[in-house]
Amino acid sequence: MTALAEVQAGLEAGAAAVEACRRCTIGSTRTCAVYGDGPASAQLMLIGEGPGETEDRLGKPFVGRAGELLTKMLAAIDFSRDDVYIANTVKCRPTLAEGKKLKNRPPTPQEMENCRPYLDEQIALLQPKIILCLGAPAAKSFLGKQFMISRQRGQWFEGPGGIPLIVTFHPAYILRQTGGDLLGMKRLVWQDLKSVRARYDELAAMVQL
Ligand code: URA
Repeated sequence: MTALAEVQAGLEAGAAAVEACRRCTIGSTRTCAVYGDGPASAQLMLIGEGPGETEDRLGKPFVGRAGELLTKMLAAIDFSRDDVYIANTVKCRPTLAEGKKLKNRPPTPQEMENCRPYLDEQIALLQPKIILCLGAPAAKSFLGKQFMISRQRGQWFEGPGGIPLIVTFHPAYILRQTGGDLLGMKRLVWQDLKSVRARYDELAAMVQL
């Protein structure tokens, strides 16, 4: 088996394990498990919080409104969805029952801990050049709960296994901004994205030497 085929096989085994997982109650309330999406050769890995309603229905990460914005953010720095691997800190949609409806809620620390081995395995298999965390919850899960997105987004950190890791605002959070707040946030996100592109190109050039 080629190295890439081994990564692919590992990802498929991980997806099957998640499919069978019932470590949390959300393992039983979900429609689909959302393991991750992208090629085994991806060198940029994006990590969000957890699946929402559309992701739960379709079994893929970032395919709702936030996903549409994420696709545009990637395109702005010349990446397509097919170039990157996208995962979440939890693989099942965290929900709250409100009457007959299910609402999204943030994952609990316990759910994130239960799901962490799956994410660690994805990172170990893919060994991406760069990890981009989307939003504070994903960032905190790597950098500790003292991480402050307002001050520390856009900075480079040493992520798992020494992989360069950077954080930007979550696209769903960007979508909730209006007026001057939205403009200001877009400017910051653009800086972060340019930094990802520059670091990625720098690392790619080093490999070619
Ligand atoms: N928000 C996330 O954090 N992840 C998804 O997959 C979708 C929305």
